[in-house]
Amino acid sequence: MAKGKIVAIANQKGGVGKTTSAVNLAAALARRKKNVLLVDSDPQGNASSGVGIRPGDHTYHLYHCYTQEIPLQDILLTPDPKIRLTLAPSSIDLAAAEMELFPVKDREHVLKKMLSQVISDYDYIVIDCPPSLGLLTINSLTAADSVLIPMQCEYFALEGLAQLVNTIRSVKKSLNRDLFIEGLLLTMFDKRNRLTFQVEDEIKKHFADQVFKTVIPRNVRLSECPSHGQTVIEYDIKSTGAQAYIKLANEFLRRQQ
Ligand SMILES: Nc1ncnc2c1ncn2[C@@H]1O[C@H](COP(=O)(O)OP(=O)(O)OP(=O)(O)O)[C@@H](O)[C@H]1O
Ligand SMILES: [Mg+2]
Repeated sequence: MAKGKIVAIANQKGGVGKTTSAVNLAAALARRKKNVLLVDSDPQGNASSGVGIRPGDHTYHLYHCYTQEIPLQDILLTPDPKIRLTLAPSSIDLAAAEMELFPVKDREHVLKKMLSQVISDYDYIVIDCPPSLGLLTINSLTAADSVLIPMQCEYFALEGLAQLVNTIRSVKKSLNRDLFIEGLLLTMFDKRNRLTFQVEDEIKKHFADQVFKTVIPRNVRLSECPSHGQTVIEYDIKSTGAQAYIKLANEFLRRQQ
């Protein structure tokens, strides 16, 4: 397996399960003894708090790497020494980075350059993107080998997907030739709701085998664990949510072979 694969978790639609998937896929890969770096590339800082790091508690965050050339190594944190997970934390300041980067030459390649300093230390780098197609997401897509797209099984799920796919295409054309779609991940799947199955069919019609076989069910444990600063793997490994992310990590690893 190639070392240091970078996966961006992206969808400009809000609240579709990007952060939940980034944090728990990262944790499930770490459980499989992979060295994982979780990059919180969202000013909301949800991935940071999801692993127990309060956004803004530390002096330096991704913002300082983006705008003040602080080396990425200097901001990395190990939230729990028991798990092989390292975090590049974020804070609300990161929102300003998009503006500050605007006049910078090669502004789309800043994250890629940062990650190149640490890539050899990790098996996987998972980037949690914000709900927009702004410069932070473009930097993530430029740095990434692949993009994983979480989709909530609801009526408007497909709306906006064309825009995301177009953005991926244009990044591929001008910034990152080798970028590919790792897969679409159905999240918050509710077996009791018929609409869920209709949306699943629709997504499969368009994306066929690009859709992960593993689906993430709606599970209250997944929504509870961030408030404890724990991934679902530590919080309740027996829950259906934890088991789904373990299964996803296994499917993801099988696809790498
Ligand atoms: N499978 C699930 N079951 C139950 N709740 C979930 C599940 N996945 C996510 N949630 C909850 O739904 C909300 C949105 O999820 P999440 O924060 O992961 O989405 P997001 O796409 O990162 O949002 P944003 O666009 O704001 O960054 C959160 O409160 C989260 O705890
Ligand atoms: Mg999020």
